[in-house]
Amino acid sequence: MADSTSDSNANEFGYRSFRLGGFNFHRDEYFVHIEWPGGGHLMPADKFLRALIRDVAWNFFYGIINFDEVFGTTNHYGTVDIFAGLYNAGYRSQNRHYTENFESGDARAVFERMLEDWTNEAFDPFAAPEETGSAFGPKRGNNSRAVQRKRVVAKRMVGLKDDSPLRSDAAGFPVNRQFLDVDQSEPELHAEPGFEDEVHAFNFFAYLSRSDVTWNPSVTAAVKDSLLCPTTEEFALPVIHGNDRIEWFLQLSDEIHWEISDRDTGAPRARAVMKPGDVAAMPADIRHQGFSPKRSMLLVWENADPGLPELYAKKKLKPNPVDF
Ligand code: PHB
Ligand code: FE
Repeated sequence: MADSTSDSNANEFGYRSFRLGGFNFHRDEYFVHIEWPGGGHLMPADKFLRALIRDVAWNFFYGIINFDEVFGTTNHYGTVDIFAGLYNAGYRSQNRHYTENFESGDARAVFERMLEDWTNEAFDPFAAPEETGSAFGPKRGNNSRAVQRKRVVAKRMVGLKDDSPLRSDAAGFPVNRQFLDVDQSEPELHAEPGFEDEVHAFNFFAYLSRSDVTWNPSVTAAVKDSLLCPTTEEFALPVIHGNDRIEWFLQLSDEIHWEISDRDTGAPRARAVMKPGDVAAMPADIRHQGFSPKRSMLLVWENADPGLPELYAKKKLKPNPVDF
């Protein structure tokens, strides 16, 4: 690993540069610049950091994370492709795309250092834009608390003994400004003696109303590969997610507008406006990005079965779970 990565000293703006294989990354006051053999690209620093923190925290997620229409990662669960233009019809038609494969841990280590160095003290890339400061300007301090935040991953269900805790004022999770009307009462539980650690219930809306992050699904309940991953959303999903499996969405409150395109080319396929109670199955062959005009609650239901990507890739499963 030592020879596949190297960090340079700080530039005139106080930011270090990073190398990962043939990719070079540096930032200035407004932009992140990415160079690779035969090409280059830039992204606004806030947009790049919002995508980067999610790619790191989700360990490259399911399938493809497009930071924008050019740059991103494809998870092979152990190794990861870092690409430029791979899923961009224009780059592809001119054969200008570039991809390199890395051990996931090596790529993540460089991404973590980049995130730490390039995130200023005022900026929290997981927060809604209205709830955080500026990502721009010369380097000012850092925000380790924000960038090292661990994603909630319950073993069975949040709030159970020895599992991820419920949220409270005391634990530093006040009710969000947009969810002040959410009832905070908890259900009564009357377990038979001996079953106190097995029978469990909590106020799911109250739990979500206290989320301090946006567009960051947390695993709040798990039964084998079935993961219930609720999240609170505000403004735009900072990545364009290319699926390698079907994802179910249940809109719990407010409204999200989804732009849905072909996963490989980006050609537009649909717009879905989801209102409270709406359910959607996002197909396995699309990319999507959500826009939430006001903070909303979304339940993402993931199937973490590691065999799924190959079944879809080999067309042994249809990309859509239902036909109407
Ligand atoms: C998704 O790509 O399916 C996704 C990611 C983050 C969210 C919601 C949905 O907060
Ligand atoms: Fe998705």
